[in-house]
Amino acid sequence: MAHFAIAHCNMNSFPATKTFVRSTGSCSAICRYSLPFQIDSCSRKILRSRKVRQQNLSIVRATAAPMNQEVEKSLLSGSLQSDPFSKSKKVMIIGGDGYCGWATALHLSNKGYEVAIVDNLVRRLFDHQLGIDSLTPISSIQNRIQRWKSITGKNIQLYIGDICEFEFLAEAFKAFEPESVVHFGEQRSAPYSMIDRSRAVYTQHNNVIGTLNVLFAIKEFSPECHLVKLGTMGEYGTPNIDIEEGYITITHNGRTDTLPYPKQASSFYHLSKVHDSHNIAFTCKAWGIQATDLNQGVVYGVRTDETEMHEELYNRFDYDGVFGTALNRFCVQAAVGHPLTVYGKGGQTRGYLDIRDTVQCVELAIANPAKQGEFRVFNQFTEQFSVNDLANLVTTVGKKLGLDVQTMNVPNPRVEAEEHYYNAKHTKLIELGLQPHLLSDSLLDSLLNFAIKYKDRVDTTQIMPTVSWKKIGVKPQSVTSR
Ligand SMILES: NC(=O)c1ccc[n+]([C@@H]2O[C@H](COP(=O)([O-])OP(=O)(O)OC[C@H]3O[C@@H](n4cnc5c(N)ncnc54)[C@H](O)[C@@H]3O)[C@@H](O)[C@H]2O)c1
Repeated sequence: MAHFAIAHCNMNSFPATKTFVRSTGSCSAICRYSLPFQIDSCSRKILRSRKVRQQNLSIVRATAAPMNQEVEKSLLSGSLQSDPFSKSKKVMIIGGDGYCGWATALHLSNKGYEVAIVDNLVRRLFDHQLGIDSLTPISSIQNRIQRWKSITGKNIQLYIGDICEFEFLAEAFKAFEPESVVHFGEQRSAPYSMIDRSRAVYTQHNNVIGTLNVLFAIKEFSPECHLVKLGTMGEYGTPNIDIEEGYITITHNGRTDTLPYPKQASSFYHLSKVHDSHNIAFTCKAWGIQATDLNQGVVYGVRTDETEMHEELYNRFDYDGVFGTALNRFCVQAAVGHPLTVYGKGGQTRGYLDIRDTVQCVELAIANPAKQGEFRVFNQFTEQFSVNDLANLVTTVGKKLGLDVQTMNVPNPRVEAEEHYYNAKHTKLIELGLQPHLLSDSLLDSLLNFAIKYKDRVDTTQIMPTVSWKKIGVKPQSVTSR
């Protein structure tokens, strides 16, 4: 049967919106070889209408930038994806200027999703306040988005504001009409939340109220929108039994039930995530919200296919004692000849994943949404390592690169078990098709070389941990007074 594509095109060579009808066997052929199309919400509504489906009509509205040579080359080489007929959703990425959010925004945009970033840029403000900086120079969000458009022809919309202010969030929802919301937009450092009372209060207010506002915005403006929320494996703590994916079936006094897996968070940050999970679970039940809680492990790495297209697209790379995550920190320490800082005995074991898998997992969650009213939990990591395992890996690979890598055990500033059982399930994303990038010598090698490339930007005074879980008090702390 003939397949009709009706496209409203708005591009430089078509000054006004134009409509044309093509009778062709494949709509995607038109898109792939002529324009990176997006199906807009108006067209999608029409597409959804039964009458149109019966007539086997597809209606596409395309906002197309002129395709430059770089785009054409990338499309031909396959490094840019343009398959808008299978993935045309509007995805709002809250926290899209951050480490995971920026990589995800580019990845989804590249895959043909219509992306909007919502961010109040507070992460950049933390850097200024604490006197720290990303290892990689990062461009302003405006320059990042412009650069992305100049390379790929793809638009990313930007809403700058704080999701704790409901009026702002409501306007962003009404303007963009998201079909999926990926929520990365939180204060995400455990040490930051343990600096002093004001940072603890800020973290819980920012994270819990922000997420609550997102839930109200979905209920009010986009009830069919799928919420993909970033939680953390840290919500579970380190129980002496296997960690399940969100739920555990328990038999107690002869009765059996499947219940949320117990949470044993170990910082005010992790506790904010636990509270978020409870609020989301409740609203799924009460209002029929559809949500996926991604309990993410510790993320390492900096490159994705998209961020490495241009220096202005580079992601941030934190190595300091407040925001740096374990493996990233160790690579920078090895690069500058600082001993690797193992906290306490170093037996602390956690789930880890490559940033390229973060973007893949989010894409999988969006493409396979939770059902209406379902609160779905995925454990998002690919491998488990202890801190000592990571230090040994970095030492071995560093030596091959000619680095003199030493390790030091520093008093543990955290309150946590330093030797413990840890076995967390992580099968649900694999079942959906996740193809993990496991930590190999070659990846560590490239991460170390990346750190070496930027080692002149390292401020070694930021490396040691300065925030103590036990010493937190009401007195405001500054980095210099600690
Ligand atoms: N990085 C990791 O290893 C890791 C591990 C597990 C879970 N996570 C979770 O993933 C998410 C993203 O982490 P990340 O490393 O990208 O953090 P990040 O700090 O780099 O990014 C968070 C972004 O959210 C923005 N933001 C914060 N509060 C906001 C608010 N009220 N309104 C609007 N924007 C706001 C910040 O400006 C920042 O750009 C977080 O929720 C974090 O808890 C991260």
